[in-house]
Amino acid sequence: MPEAVLPRRIVFNESLADSLSSLIATIGSSKALVITDETLNRIGLVKKVLAVLEEAEIPFKVFDKVPPEPPISVADEIASIASEFNPDVFIAVGGGSVIDAAKAGLVKHVRPEYNVRDVSPFEVIGLEVRKPVLIAIPTTSGTGSDATLGVVLTDTVDGDKIKIALGSPEVVPYATILDPEMVKNLPSNLRIATGIDALSHAMEAYVSNQANPLSDALAEKAATLIFQYLPRAVKGDEDAISKMHIAATLAGAAFSNSGLGMAHAIAHPLGSVLGTHHGLTVGVVLPYVMEYNISQSDEVAGKYTKLARILSVYINGGSENIVQAVREFYRNLGFPTRFRDAGISKEKYSEAVDKVPFLALQDADIVFAPVVPSPEEIKSLLENMY
Ligand SMILES: [Fe+2]
Repeated sequence: MPEAVLPRRIVFNESLADSLSSLIATIGSSKALVITDETLNRIGLVKKVLAVLEEAEIPFKVFDKVPPEPPISVADEIASIASEFNPDVFIAVGGGSVIDAAKAGLVKHVRPEYNVRDVSPFEVIGLEVRKPVLIAIPTTSGTGSDATLGVVLTDTVDGDKIKIALGSPEVVPYATILDPEMVKNLPSNLRIATGIDALSHAMEAYVSNQANPLSDALAEKAATLIFQYLPRAVKGDEDAISKMHIAATLAGAAFSNSGLGMAHAIAHPLGSVLGTHHGLTVGVVLPYVMEYNISQSDEVAGKYTKLARILSVYINGGSENIVQAVREFYRNLGFPTRFRDAGISKEKYSEAVDKVPFLALQDADIVFAPVVPSPEEIKSLLENMY
């Protein structure tokens, strides 16, 4: 990629109250639209954000209707509130779905005539030069959406729901606030699945055909932090939870500047057919795709050997075999290495094996794969994953 984009500010190791109030002062904000989902609002995570706004005497509105895997129409809902209320800052409090919905809503608000489906790096939207700006406060340590140019939404085509991956450098949040308090109480299965999603972002970014020194640096550090801290974060270690929160953002920034690859291209349609969590799906797929890429490309093999050396302190026996290291890492976390171990029935899986190869080759992330497989190769990889 010929350019790199990152959030203007990435705030960490500071309380949400301090970081958000100083950001609002910097922006000169006078009205805020808080975007979140019903669960996060109900369990009280959003309250902390609202308390800061109340303290700063900033009028605000809360839109808490972002569903999981938000449809494209969520952009219109958010834009319609924004056009009435006229906020000069959008504050997204949530995981990837919420942050992506906020990005899409911001585009629609600033350019009502614009079709959100057209969001791409090749279109000028006009977001960078005007308010509202977007502040992201992630409540999971995985998607990295708080640092990416990506927007993943669900569209309906001929009655079928499909995930669409859009992106523009202009939707990268202005700021992201990484407050470990926001992820302190994540259930451990979600902490593992989202942490492995972040690992797959780093691993794919590192060998993407658009990888560059900036994305490599981000991916190396993200992978190192994940190998070092995810096992301890799962046990509730606060320092490790905070490091994982930063790692997920670094991994997001890595792939935002390099693209992903075949593991995500397979995981998107596969997760739709199986109804599995994205982190679980892409995590199981990842080592098989890494193995395939290594077998097909000396360049990929060389890069992964280099990464294995960097990670060697955290790999049992200091192996140079990165695939083995990833599988060992999964076993130690109790994360499945095959779909049969993730409770997927043989029948359901066979349906996926038939449908996914064609859809994976149409997924936006396949464009960045270092080696593009044939449909038959994807089919055989899928069979091995069960
Ligand atoms: Fe992912």
